[in-house]
Amino acid sequence: NSQLLTDILSKVLSDFSRSFKSYSVQMCTRKTLPAEMISRNNFSVWSILKKCIGMELSKIAMPVVFNEPLSFLQRISEYMEHTHLIHKACSLSDSIDRMQVVAAFAVSAVASQWERTGKPFNPLLGETYELIREDEGYRLISEQVSHHPPISAFHAQSLKQEFEFHGSIYPKLKFWGKSVEAEPKGTMTLELLKHKEAYTWTNPMCCVHNIILGKLWIEQYGTVEIVNHSTGDKCVLNFKPCGMFGKELHKVEGHIQDKSKKKRRVIYGKWTECMYSVDPKVYDAYKKSDKKTGGDSKKLKQEHSCEGEEADEMPDVQETVTVIPGSALLWRITPRPPHSAQMYNFTSFAMTLNELEPGMERLMAPTDCRLRPDIRAMENADIETASSEKERLEEKQRAARRERSKDEEEWSTRWFQLGTNPHTGGEDWLYTGGYFDRNYTDCPNIY
Ligand SMILES: *[C@@H]1O[C@H](CO)[C@@H](O)[C@H](O)[C@H]1NC(C)=O
Ligand SMILES: *[C@@H]1O[C@H](CO)[C@@H](O)[C@H](O)[C@H]1NC(C)=O
Ligand SMILES: *[C@@H]1O[C@H](CO)[C@@H](O)[C@H](O)[C@H]1NC(C)=O
Ligand SMILES: *[C@@H]1O[C@H](CO)[C@@H](O)[C@H](O)[C@H]1NC(C)=O
Repeated sequence: NSQLLTDILSKVLSDFSRSFKSYSVQMCTRKTLPAEMISRNNFSVWSILKKCIGMELSKIAMPVVFNEPLSFLQRISEYMEHTHLIHKACSLSDSIDRMQVVAAFAVSAVASQWERTGKPFNPLLGETYELIREDEGYRLISEQVSHHPPISAFHAQSLKQEFEFHGSIYPKLKFWGKSVEAEPKGTMTLELLKHKEAYTWTNPMCCVHNIILGKLWIEQYGTVEIVNHSTGDKCVLNFKPCGMFGKELHKVEGHIQDKSKKKRRVIYGKWTECMYSVDPKVYDAYKKSDKKTGGDSKKLKQEHSCEGEEADEMPDVQETVTVIPGSALLWRITPRPPHSAQMYNFTSFAMTLNELEPGMERLMAPTDCRLRPDIRAMENADIETASSEKERLEEKQRAARRERSKDEEEWSTRWFQLGTNPHTGGEDWLYTGGYFDRNYTDCPNIY
């Protein structure tokens, strides 16, 4: 029996140390980055392109100074900034109330993009990122599951089994001359476990204007449909392109309809500011009276300028959201910290994402982005090291691929597997579990 006792004791101890380990990784407390960003003024894209004339397009590496010191895996973790909205949705008993808070969450999830024109680092194949936030009650794990095309998969779950939020993202970039359009292909799935509900949607399109000359600015546009798969009810959100005079800049408008297509709520606001919900009758009456008094009744041509040839200056019209009497506030953006402008326009949440507390690296997978030397160097404003390390990592990745193809070996993902999303029936990368058991013996050496 003493053997049994020893076994039990060692099991208890290992469980204890495991949970202790997972709790000690979540001390993300810093308010600022270690250094201010290096000004990009001395680097013009044109001066780089001039040197590259005649070079193969894929060989041209954008200088690191145009990046921001986060991996794309960390960037997508920013969807979690407004997790309090998921908790709120879980707590509501009325399904339409839940749907409108989920809609606010879907919009808030892209709000961190506002004025963030730095390019996140491309994740290396096999790179991972974990984020544990006890205070917000969730943990997240993500993995770069494919390099060509680049696909990032993430899975977040609440510590109290209230929700799961997961997805895979395949940012498809298109170069339009003066702008870059990013289509974030891939489905987001939010499951509210207590309500046995699942919602899915895809993120809007994003355009970064003036990448060669002029002021960089970001436009998001397109229709986002949030579907409740239990009933087929949905919320349709229209991210408006900025239009001819910029009147529509950043605006989001839409409605929730039930399965008989009856409008139940109108949702409106700006993805950079706030979102409101109002009764459709109140909304229609307001719009009618607004038209009589000559308010914003003109239907503007709805086109975005990503493919346009005309000068695409960012419009100056910056009027704030007009609140229709009787509306309920669903979400308001958290103000950026005062030093944000010198730090890539990061939010307070983004400032913490690459924080590496002493001792953390012994617990995390060796593939965690926090251990990437190029991102770390850039965060410390050491552009030269960032640049040479980025090159070294990319070359190491290419060499590993050559080795694999010589041995006709396939890359195998570690924490996610390609499968079928049970709600949409489409192909999706699903978490296979086990990351937080913290056995990383067979993780690849990618740095
Ligand atoms: C940028 O250019 C200015 C003026 O030419 C110079 O004083 C400054 O040192 C440069 N900064 C960097 C980072 O090269
Ligand atoms: C931060 O925002 C300001 C104001 O819009 C903008 O001029 C600047 O280019 C942005 N910086 C970055 C790194 O995106
Ligand atoms: C979603 O589906 C559930 C389960 O059938 C249903 O009870 C609920 O009314 C639906 N919610 C919305 C907002 O349509
Ligand atoms: C960790 O994983 C490896 C291989 O996946 C396995 O052989 C080993 O037994 C595991 N270690 C523990 C402590 O579970």
